[in-house]
Amino acid sequence: MKVDVLLGLQWGDEGKGKVVDVLTPRYDVVSRFQGGPNAGHTLEFEGKKYVLRSIPSGIFQGNKINIIGNGVVLDPALFKVEVEALEAAGHDLSQRLFISKKAHLILPTHRLLDAAYEQAKGDSKIGTTGKGIGPAYTDKISRNGVRVGDILHNFEEKYTTAVNKHKTILKHYNFDYDLSQLEKEWFEGIEALKKFSFINSEHDINRMLQSGASILAEGAQGTMLDIDFGSYPFVTSSNTICAGACTGLGVAPRNIGEVYGIFKAYCTRVGSGPFPTELHCPTGEKLREKGHEFGSVTGRPRRCGWIDLVALRYAVMINGVTKLIMMKSDVMDSFETIKACVAYKIGNETVTDFPYEIDSQVEPVYKEFTGWQTDMTAMQSESEFPKAFNDYLAFLEKELNVPIYIVSVGPDRAQTIIRE
Ligand code: GDP
Ligand code: IMO
Ligand code: MG
Repeated sequence: MKVDVLLGLQWGDEGKGKVVDVLTPRYDVVSRFQGGPNAGHTLEFEGKKYVLRSIPSGIFQGNKINIIGNGVVLDPALFKVEVEALEAAGHDLSQRLFISKKAHLILPTHRLLDAAYEQAKGDSKIGTTGKGIGPAYTDKISRNGVRVGDILHNFEEKYTTAVNKHKTILKHYNFDYDLSQLEKEWFEGIEALKKFSFINSEHDINRMLQSGASILAEGAQGTMLDIDFGSYPFVTSSNTICAGACTGLGVAPRNIGEVYGIFKAYCTRVGSGPFPTELHCPTGEKLREKGHEFGSVTGRPRRCGWIDLVALRYAVMINGVTKLIMMKSDVMDSFETIKACVAYKIGNETVTDFPYEIDSQVEPVYKEFTGWQTDMTAMQSESEFPKAFNDYLAFLEKELNVPIYIVSVGPDRAQTIIRE
């Protein structure tokens, strides 16, 4: 069998958690391959709502195995909170959740460094989630990281060496902090983590593939936040793209199967950075209000705008997307007019390739559509889709040259239409 990958094509929060949950019954294993608790993946079913940060979104469907892969950065303190919330809701995780020994730990000082770097950047700050993601990946790449497997070997020494280095940097930044409470919660988190099995996940995953098991790799963030291909420097610190599943799980490229690319019928972004189709007008407000566009991790209002096909085409190309998944079309159910950005105008030039730099010179070129103006939230099959909606789908499929396999018409697990 191969590993299918599900990943975001925009700036995150496309609805990955919901769809992973919907697709999990088809798989034996679900695994996160990058990112950390900067992610907030929301799932809704049976009148309940859950937000997952580090735990894969396959955790609610029967006894499927869920793995936190080597490419993830894990904060034990936040992990403990997440586990406790799920256990309090009656979900036993112990035999279903496994953690790669090679996943890197987010230390309490990584969070402080994240805040110090942001403060120092002033107006050009990234607008990070403040979870220590950048500093944790920096230590990984500079070979100063502490990994989950280290918890079992000389842990205190490795922790202290890393934290002392961080203290020197924090001093350089004149950053005031109180580490004691953070450290206390963090070490309590380590104890919570120890209740789970630490595994050589690359061996387990490849063995499972050979024995015919099916695996779904769950992305976090989105392609436009990728460290290499996103809107640098306003990105996250990992490879959010399909290739990240190879390095983040230890799976060879030839063992990747379907690549599910997920996008909203419009577009959002949290934090700083370019967003050519952003709307600073009542329509943007309407998208935010109807789509409840507030960050699931930080509660920050998400910036909203029209769908950007220049960026989406780029994301489809980089990831080799084989099936598209369109989310939140219901948010635009009452719109009279819908716009899609098909190109950018830069000076006198019209470009369709995503440019190296996006600045205020970039002006979106829109194609306008008549809205479907039909409540789609209770629809169960595509035979119920209004004509205007089908026209919009056909247009997107033509522009992106990939079939739209799933349409989501509401946050609940049940509000999902699969186009077989
Ligand atoms: P993720 O990070 O990609 O998993 O996405 P988030 O959970 O951060 O954000 C998606 C939000 O949209 C969540 O609040 C979901 O409950 C909600 N959602 C998902 N699909 C739909 C949909 O089709 N319609 C509506 N109205 N909400 C949706
Ligand atoms: P999910 O998985 C949306 C954004 C932050 C910031 C930038 C860098 O829920 O889609 P970081 O804390 O990673 O260093 O922040 O990336 N960001 C996200 N935006 N959804 C996410 O995750 C995000 N994770 C990070 O807002 O602009
Ligand atoms: Mg999210």
